[in-house]
Amino acid sequence: MPEPSAMLSRPLHVAIIMDGNGRWAAQRGLPRLRGHEAGTESVQAVVRACRDRGIRYLTLYAFSVENWKRPREEVGGLMNLLVRFLRDQERELHAHAIRLRLIGRQEDLPEEVRRELDRVTNATRSYEKGHLILALSYGGRTEIATAARRIAEQVKAGHLEPAAVDEALFSRFLYAPDIPDPDLIIRTSGEMRLSNFLLWQSAYAELYVTPVLWPDFREREFEAALDEFSRRQRRFGGLGAEEGSSEAVS
Ligand code: FPP
Repeated sequence: MPEPSAMLSRPLHVAIIMDGNGRWAAQRGLPRLRGHEAGTESVQAVVRACRDRGIRYLTLYAFSVENWKRPREEVGGLMNLLVRFLRDQERELHAHAIRLRLIGRQEDLPEEVRRELDRVTNATRSYEKGHLILALSYGGRTEIATAARRIAEQVKAGHLEPAAVDEALFSRFLYAPDIPDPDLIIRTSGEMRLSNFLLWQSAYAELYVTPVLWPDFREREFEAALDEFSRRQRRFGGLGAEEGSSEAVS
């Protein structure tokens, strides 16, 4: 299982629950989709901020498995925004050697969106400098259940012994096993919950919740989250380096 970055003052992997687009729009008497549009600008700002600061992994919770329950118009609008974002962002990804990655049930997405996602993920496949990971039709429980099913199939086929199933093996069956666990999970708009995001991978993540609504979350707010992260002492269940037990990291 990828180790979290124990002693870094800067996170290797930041994951964000981008919440509050609807409220931002409602406060202005605008349709919800306008909030998502403004939120796309925050996405661009945060991608840029990660790039400038050398943060290698950025995961964005762009669409959850539960989001399909929203009105058809809003879902369609979000899918269009995603396609537009990919087209706008592609040049940036190439210019800065950033690889686009996906986690979630891609099979649920409309054909046009899948085509565009396939195209950009393939075109950026060889890049290593940064990883932009979009969680699309993503649910943490679905990810874990899917891994469990695939492991059960391997056991049934005689390729795997039940005794070999431990944390390290289990994590190899998740959507993107090579990506290190997030060091920092940011949630905007004040809600104190994970909402089915990266349930396995968040075990030791530092959580940062800000009341700022996602469309208002720009470079300055991101910087504040990073500052707060750099002040946290991460112990991973041990006693922590300052108490003389750095080997207790587990
Ligand atoms: C939550 O706000 C946000 C979403 C469900 C979608 C996030 C999408 C974007 C930021 C834009 C498109 C994404 C990319 C990657 C270009 P909400 O609608 O639940 O807000 P509310 O809780 O205030 O109603």
